Amino acid sequence: MAKTIGVLTSGGDAPGMNAAVRAVVRAALSKGMKVYGIRRGYNGLINGDIFEMNALSVSGIISKGGTCLYTARCNEFRYEEGINKGRDTCRKLGIEGIVVIGGDGSFRGAADLSAAGINCIGIPGTIDNDIKCTEYTIGYDTALNTAIEMVDKLNDTTSSHDRCSVVEVMGRNAGYLALNVACATGADAVITPELGYDLDNIINELCDARQRGKNHFVVVVAEGIGNSENIARAIQERTGIESRATVLGHVQRGGAPTCRDRVAATLMGCYAVDLLEQGIGNRVVGMKDNKIYDVDIQEALAMTKSFEQNVFDAVKITAY
Ligand code: F6P
Repeated sequence: MAKTIGVLTSGGDAPGMNAAVRAVVRAALSKGMKVYGIRRGYNGLINGDIFEMNALSVSGIISKGGTCLYTARCNEFRYEEGINKGRDTCRKLGIEGIVVIGGDGSFRGAADLSAAGINCIGIPGTIDNDIKCTEYTIGYDTALNTAIEMVDKLNDTTSSHDRCSVVEVMGRNAGYLALNVACATGADAVITPELGYDLDNIINELCDARQRGKNHFVVVVAEGIGNSENIARAIQERTGIESRATVLGHVQRGGAPTCRDRVAATLMGCYAVDLLEQGIGNRVVGMKDNKIYDVDIQEALAMTKSFEQNVFDAVKITAY
């Protein structure tokens, strides 16, 4: 039965992380627990950059992007020495459990710290939606909507100039963001790391569409493929359609979280505290069939996540 817990955000930030921190703090306080905020991910645990949080510490943050706890990737925590330092900090402050909000890399640290005797619960927070044990990760919906807004804007200027826009969206090695942005913006083609691409096919499809009267095009490329400048250049050289590459970049990581992200973050935060209260650790909170559940961290890391072939097919079917 944990009486004192900590919370940290780790890895790339994602809109909704603040809502998750707020939920963890408020849920813990409602159970009479003491809560510490740990700054800059596992670095704060190693360096002792930790402060006690109260209800007011998380006031007004539910609507804010970024993370009030700051975030970082921490190389030192990949080794035994770093983990032991983290465990010692916890022992010194009486921290019995930690909620770790982040991605797969952060969950590995959480598993190691759990093995060292500090119960950790992972909450999936990343715009990539690439965490295998969950259908949904905090930040994904906001990033999708940000990217959609940008692509819609690009579409305006692309059509005015009879051009082709090759738009690169984030997602690390996964194509979920790219696929859904392509589907929601009516893109002509989408290129993901899961399926790769055949440029000849794409160029043929664009030329066929041009034959049918289409005069502007959008190709969405996942970051895991990259190469958007070269793809744009090749399209221009081989079709004569003036083409531009746009890399959306980190703008996708910012902004006020959507309703979906705030609610998912709040539910997951409360759920994580319930687990710690029961003395449970080494679990990741996830969403399965639209319900919150939890799974062993090692099992979570070994899972596979399916490619959304139906979304890919829908992009093709609905392209002009
Ligand atoms: O995991 C989130 C993410 O934004 C990925 O989409 C991207 O590959 C990566 O982080 C970028 O990381 P950084 O902010 O360290 O450049």
